[in-house]
Amino acid sequence: MCGIVGYVGLQSANPILMEGLRRLEYRGYDSAGIAWQSDGEIHLLRAPGKLHNLQARLPNTVSHLGIGHTRWATHGKPEERNAHPHCDNQHQVAVVQNGIIENYRPLREELIAQGCVFRSDTDTEVIPHLLSQYLQNNYALLEAMRLTVVRLEGAFAIAAIATAAPDEIVIARQQAPLVVGLGQGELFCASDTTALINHTQAFLSLENGELARLTPLGMELYSFAGERVRRFPERLTWSPVLVEKGGFKHYMLKEIHDQPGVLRQGLESHLLNAQIALGPVQELYPQVEQMQIVACGTSWHASLVGQYILQQVAQVPTTVHYASEFRYAPPPYRPHTLTIGVTQSGETADTLAALSLEASRQLTGTPWLLGITNRPESSLGRLVPYVIDTRAGIEIGVAATKTFIAQVTAFYLLAFDLAYQRQIITQEKLELYLANLQKIPNQLEWILETQTPAIEQLAYQFQEVQHVIYLGRGINFPIALEGALKLKEISYIHAEGYPAGEMKHGPIALLDKGVPVIAIATPGTVYDKVLSNVQEARAREAHLIGVGSAANSEIPDLFHVNLTVPEVPELLSPLVTVIPLQLLAYYIAAHRGLDVDQPRNLAKSVTVE
Ligand code: F6R
Repeated sequence: MCGIVGYVGLQSANPILMEGLRRLEYRGYDSAGIAWQSDGEIHLLRAPGKLHNLQARLPNTVSHLGIGHTRWATHGKPEERNAHPHCDNQHQVAVVQNGIIENYRPLREELIAQGCVFRSDTDTEVIPHLLSQYLQNNYALLEAMRLTVVRLEGAFAIAAIATAAPDEIVIARQQAPLVVGLGQGELFCASDTTALINHTQAFLSLENGELARLTPLGMELYSFAGERVRRFPERLTWSPVLVEKGGFKHYMLKEIHDQPGVLRQGLESHLLNAQIALGPVQELYPQVEQMQIVACGTSWHASLVGQYILQQVAQVPTTVHYASEFRYAPPPYRPHTLTIGVTQSGETADTLAALSLEASRQLTGTPWLLGITNRPESSLGRLVPYVIDTRAGIEIGVAATKTFIAQVTAFYLLAFDLAYQRQIITQEKLELYLANLQKIPNQLEWILETQTPAIEQLAYQFQEVQHVIYLGRGINFPIALEGALKLKEISYIHAEGYPAGEMKHGPIALLDKGVPVIAIATPGTVYDKVLSNVQEARAREAHLIGVGSAANSEIPDLFHVNLTVPEVPELLSPLVTVIPLQLLAYYIAAHRGLDVDQPRNLAKSVTVE
């Protein structure tokens, strides 16, 4: 949430800052701003709304040092005066921040009592005032930042510039992501490597409690205690192409279409000589007695599918928790529990906090924490000792699609492997599961090629719709939840997912002609049950849309519209049933002319709680 970027070097800073902000806009888009230094002065430019508003005001000036910010509002409305960067009263310091300064109220009162005039409602503004005071007391910018951050409580990533240090950016990190990009005679900083991938592939991630000084000559890294820290940068192997739209109208559509390739890549990298290879976590298998999964949003839905597979195939008792609930009310600690954190960004504050809490309860040895993510270089990757890299790469569209399918695939591999290693399934069964899994990418391609026109047409029928009910049972109940979440977050249509059997216990009261019901009805243990539940909706004159396989003869008669998926084993069906629901949500939002990739009020990386 919120993106920050900084540049110091020989090139002109502002175009680099603007490009970085464009790539970070997925983190927040309520307002944007940049500050740069030239002729011994700090210049500030801010604009409410999307980045193009800022771009329209950009003057043609040259500077070699600057910082920028794209905002997801926490404290203060999304207005220009609340946009970052924020300055001190003398206009000698400019600051951008991502996070929340929890103790800003007492600091603000103290600073006001000392004569500071506040011009915004933000928590961030205390930082330039504090820095300014230390600079006036002749501390160097780095030390001023150190003295400032030790007074702050909360989670934050900060970048600051000051006229007193015309060739320096000073940065600090506490529980919010911040990376430094290293170039030739130039340094960058950003909330995410994606902002800088066109400029460098050498990165160094700040750890919690670290601050750094960046100049064209290099960087110096310190702990908040003032001790020098030395660490080698890492090389990122991504291509910048990964973060381009590749001819699609929106990132979300591209990422939906990326899914067959993502699945192939995920399987290829975790299957070696027909064996599942998930790395060191496999050593824990003999001792694991139960699992608990912490996640949020779409990752939580992937975890529900994971729970189903782990329990039904690997016979491991598994619970799934909202990370935001777990962190304040965890279940009683039980040894021999593997805790799994699932997150596409690797930066979700609640998920990281839940994992840290669990680590603190495991008093000895390497904590039993496994991360499932497409961003192994993220804060999650540094927090947990075991990681499954889903290999989905970065996702830009705010609504998660390809990362969901990749997380679910990781759960299949984990459950199949565990079941095989514990002799719950035979080698033949394992081979059959894997062979079926390997067929899925082609089946996804079939759905994308053959079903898209019908789904696009269907989307036009949703122009006036205000409520939608999604039904699923068993392993497809999480897909009903995910379908509903996709629709509400990008089209702003109210949608709810229910286990189909629960409908008669309340939600059925909502049904009438104007409330479409989308039911997932694929062959398997609960197929007939779902069809009975759909009959109940039909009796209330609901408009019925079915997601089912072509082989089901009952389907065409029961539903008003059929979205067809290939027939696959029930256990693997979530991988195919989710695709029409992603496409439907996408086309409904696109037909409504909405900003699919950057829906209102949302951010891709939720780094505040
Ligand atoms: C939905 C969506 C969010 C995220 C949630 C968790 O499309 O993207 O619900 O799933 O914010 O994010 P991660 O997976 O980054 O922890």
